[in-house]
Amino acid sequence: MTQMPGLLDTEAIRKDFPILDRQVHDGRKLVYLDNAATSQKPRQVLDALSEYYERYNANVHRGVHVLAEEATALYEGARDKVAAFVNAPSRDEVIFTKNASESLNLVANMLGWADEPYRVDHETEIVITEMEHHSNIVPWQLLAQRTGAKLKWFGLTDDGRLDLSNIEEVINEKTKIVSFVLVSNILGTVNPVEAIVRRAQEVGALVCIDASQAAPHMPLDVQALQADFVAFTGHKMCGPTGIGVLWGRQELLEDLPPFLGGGEMIETVSMHSSTYAPAPHKFEAGTPPIAQAVGLGAAIDYLDAIGMDRVLAHEHALTEYAVRRLAEVPDLRIIGPTTAEDRGAAISFTLGDIHPHDVGQVLDEEGIAVRVGHHCARPVCLRYGIPATTRASFYLYSTPAEIDALVDGLEHVRNFFG
Ligand code: ALA
Repeated sequence: MTQMPGLLDTEAIRKDFPILDRQVHDGRKLVYLDNAATSQKPRQVLDALSEYYERYNANVHRGVHVLAEEATALYEGARDKVAAFVNAPSRDEVIFTKNASESLNLVANMLGWADEPYRVDHETEIVITEMEHHSNIVPWQLLAQRTGAKLKWFGLTDDGRLDLSNIEEVINEKTKIVSFVLVSNILGTVNPVEAIVRRAQEVGALVCIDASQAAPHMPLDVQALQADFVAFTGHKMCGPTGIGVLWGRQELLEDLPPFLGGGEMIETVSMHSSTYAPAPHKFEAGTPPIAQAVGLGAAIDYLDAIGMDRVLAHEHALTEYAVRRLAEVPDLRIIGPTTAEDRGAAISFTLGDIHPHDVGQVLDEEGIAVRVGHHCARPVCLRYGIPATTRASFYLYSTPAEIDALVDGLEHVRNFFG
């Protein structure tokens, strides 16, 4: 194993993640390479969750008693942390949801129920890409089916990047919204945000970015992205499950209608009609995921203390090492960019004609956790003519030794299947 510039002190970091000490399958050391599916959680986040329930648990925004006020302060404090983490101009632009899927569905439904100039109808077009996660495809298909809008998408090049050669035709004066992923969960590709946003702005279309695989891994600045909406989820960035974020530009959130109705999203209610609370509360009906938001706040504190620039550098070094080592495995084909340039730390591959489920199972027997399947991005598999891939994905606690273990494991897979 080599020393690489940019690596974090994983020996120290791994002490914060109790689960990484686990052994599986009769004493095999766990090698957790399924971080694009969900990250592990540091002790600091686990402690914040139990401390919340042990000391502060109450409903938020509703009570005058001490616990209600403390719980509200913690929940709203988490919103402040998220706003700072993504450089949002205002904390009121941060909406808590249950995950990125809900955030993206929320945008689609805001637009579906909106008046002009945001309304999506049969005369308008929605643009996505062929590398989206299903959560950034299906909500737009539903919206197109309900409104008669036309759904269009950018295709992919053979090396796993967006084919933007027809950008002027795909994004045109009829386009209402362009929604695309910043970092692909299956290909690892980092997309050229600036070119897409520039074209969308030329035609007055809104831009929504799925940053689920970006927020955990790199500095995220919603102002620099110049998008209108940015969605991500907490559980991939050291936070608990059950908490997602939608950031939206303030004037849009003021203008657009709510999707879910219920408690705490209102100003007044009569039996005939209701008026709504200002954003973000207008979009947070019912009791929100309070403990989960507090846990996400603790995750952000944790990541901030390390520094997202350093997390990015660590993963870039690991990715460079991984693509180099994987190239040594006979019959291995990376699905997506084959260099570490403009790619994230999720690497999908096929291994000859061995089915990815078999690859995953043999690796699992060695304690190596990867994801196999279509990764909720089935159109990508269809595009490349494969049923599925094996995906290894790294995070701030991943090490070169774990990549070596993966490469050794793949050698055993090859031997096993002859
Ligand atoms: N979106 C997650 C993944 O890519 C679940 O695995």
